Amino acid sequence: MKLIFLGPPGAGKGTMAVRVADAASIPHISTGDIFRYNIKNQTELGKKVKAILDSGELVPDELTIELVRDRLGQDDAKSGFILDGFPRTVPQADALSEMAPVDNVINFTLSDEEVVKRLSGRRVHPGSGRTYHILFSPPKVEGKDDETGDDLVQREDDREDAIKNRLRVYREQTEPLIEYYRSRGKLVDLDSSPAPEEVFTSLRKILSL
Ligand code: AP5
Repeated sequence: MKLIFLGPPGAGKGTMAVRVADAASIPHISTGDIFRYNIKNQTELGKKVKAILDSGELVPDELTIELVRDRLGQDDAKSGFILDGFPRTVPQADALSEMAPVDNVINFTLSDEEVVKRLSGRRVHPGSGRTYHILFSPPKVEGKDDETGDDLVQREDDREDAIKNRLRVYREQTEPLIEYYRSRGKLVDLDSSPAPEEVFTSLRKILSL
């Protein structure tokens, strides 16, 4: 099963990708997580992209495409994958269609108002990427990761000004992909406004999981 999870920031793509990857035994490939891993470990790539991620702009296409090409070339991605956060531009979608055509594109839909609520309340465990929400999916102990007890943090790009910029970038550069994939008969819309359990049930039906 080769899938793309498309949708605005904060729509719940990462939350659902973790669950679907587990249910379908396929890797969850998040370009955002790969960039954040490199930033945390201060690699050359991390140093190059930190300011871009913090502001909510997009990393240049050439760099992102090569990174995904490498990742999809690994053995665990041969029989299936979930791409979360890639492609985000038409050139990225064109490159992907040459390297690994996908079966389905799930288009997560959510209003801007809900996006802001979800992102401003999100907290993450930097070590594992585990994601919480202070209201909708709180940790057992406030501010602490359930499994390790480490402190949770707020992503730099979940500040109000960066959220606004990410939504603008999404409208201008990523939203055209909805029509791109719809016209190719690959797109399935998914209302991601209900609670996580309900969204997951709808996804299982769509994917026959
Ligand atoms: P990336 O990490 O991909 O960020 P994003 O697309 O903005 O997506 P998010 O991770 O913010 O949201 P999500 O939809 O996964 O929501 P989540 O499940 O966490 O990219 C970050 C940056 O990297 C980009 O800005 C760019 O700079 C760069 N980048 C990445 N890919 C790139 C590319 N291809 N090209 C160029 N640059 C690239 O959920 C959000 C919150 O809501 C959580 O708190 C969660 O607990 C909660 N929640 C989830 N589902 C529900 C629900 N159903 N009900 C209530 N709460 C919910």
